[in-house]
Amino acid sequence: MSDVAMQHPAATRRDFLFLVTGAAAAIGVGATAWPFIDQMEPSADTLAAGAPVDVDLTALAPGQMIRIRWRGAPIFIVSRPQKALDGLKDKAILVELRDPDSRVRQQPPYADNWSRSARPQVGVYVGICTHLGCIPQFLPEPNATTPVENWPGGFFCPCHGSKYDLAGRVYSGVPAPYNLPVPPYRFVNDTKLRIGENPEGVSFDMGSVVQM
Ligand code: FES
Repeated sequence: MSDVAMQHPAATRRDFLFLVTGAAAAIGVGATAWPFIDQMEPSADTLAAGAPVDVDLTALAPGQMIRIRWRGAPIFIVSRPQKALDGLKDKAILVELRDPDSRVRQQPPYADNWSRSARPQVGVYVGICTHLGCIPQFLPEPNATTPVENWPGGFFCPCHGSKYDLAGRVYSGVPAPYNLPVPPYRFVNDTKLRIGENPEGVSFDMGSVVQM
């Protein structure tokens, strides 16, 4: 087990997840205006069982994020323009990340790279903070004061202040121990993304990640 893995208080996290599920959902819905993809089909039961979910990427504007639900978890789908991609390689930021090279197994092999994605322009992450399970906010633009001083842009967890970059990589010195997980997904074509299914020939499921 890695040093990082040994820091994970599993029982405490489970307890917290149980207690804050309702509150976290309220934060996610109330604090944002992200568009949601209509998921009337397939049925809720089928979705809960883990069926793949197709996402129309024409709804994803440059620099924005859409959020869907897969297996009951929020999935963040982020459009990253060139400026955001340049930020993922910024050495001044990389040195502040806990696991900049995705050393801990939190992603499938096709996202085990600098952008943590199959195509750099589109990031796909499970939107559950790896500390105690709150839903991070999408705040892509740097800001001098909000939500914290010298905010670099990325995902911010409002529960205890964990910070992630736009590839879901966690910063050092915050409570969250791991990068945001990457779910299995593949591009059906240039405008359709399928969450819950790997590219042909790849075997990966969420049971492989160190922590959801
Ligand atoms: S749940 Fe504690 S920082 Fe996110």
